[in-house]
Amino acid sequence: MTQHITLSLDHITKVFGDTQETKVEAIRDITIEFRRGESALILGPSGSGKTTLLSMMGGLLRPTSGKIFLNGKEFSSLREAELSPYRLRYFGFIFQEFNLLSNLTALENIELVVRMSGLKGELAREKSKSLLELAGLSRRASHFPSQLSGGEKQRVAIMRALSNNPPIVLADEPTGNLDSEVGNVITQILSGIACRENRTVVIVSHDERIKKVVDRIIYVQDGKITKEEKGEHDKDNKEAHNHYLTF
Ligand SMILES: Nc1ncnc2c1ncn2[C@@H]1O[C@H](COP(=O)(O)OP(=O)(O)O)[C@@H](O)[C@H]1O
Ligand SMILES: [Mg+2]
Repeated sequence: MTQHITLSLDHITKVFGDTQETKVEAIRDITIEFRRGESALILGPSGSGKTTLLSMMGGLLRPTSGKIFLNGKEFSSLREAELSPYRLRYFGFIFQEFNLLSNLTALENIELVVRMSGLKGELAREKSKSLLELAGLSRRASHFPSQLSGGEKQRVAIMRALSNNPPIVLADEPTGNLDSEVGNVITQILSGIACRENRTVVIVSHDERIKKVVDRIIYVQDGKITKEEKGEHDKDNKEAHNHYLTF
């Protein structure tokens, strides 16, 4: 069984602030596991601790107490110097505000991360181009973020997150400011990745539409998991998954 477990959180808490007045218990005793090939939606109102939880899962933020394991190895207590190569190898992050660098083109934004994973020169350029093509954005390669629509920016951000082939993709409100059609495409891309490429995808959102494309729905409130449901994701729905390659 254990070899199927990807990411495991064991009694995680996070407290912000160091005085009684400023203290916020953002995450209170969360224990959960995510397996390879699984897609999950963490659903909860604003302020319920979703971003905090996702940041700890990806090693961007340390828990106050509790441990996080990846394939049985604890990484939540690693020093920063050991943690950053770990993050690069195992995690792809898709953030709410796209986090594209404004002075780099769409292609360069992707290439930056491709180079960080070790590819150099022409190889890095070629890989970045093929990722842009996969996102249907070849004709936007030399556009800067300010010249791209919200949906295009988000597609660049997704491809950038996937460029180092991370086994785990963490997305924070990926459909945040997008209209519903673009939002649907984005969520289908993400669930397709989990299903076809056997990666783990965890999406954090308050967008109920995402329920349709994930395997698990985890509800959080006040820093706690209040319930879990099976998602409405139909693994045999080829049409939704092919979207990723053709849109
Ligand atoms: N760096 C921080 N310092 C202090 N409080 C924080 C910090 N980050 C988040 N919080 C608090 O923790 C709680 C959970 O925040 P967050 O994880 O961003 O929620 P969500 O993503 O669900 O909206 C909120 O009350 C928020 O104000
Ligand atoms: Mg948030």
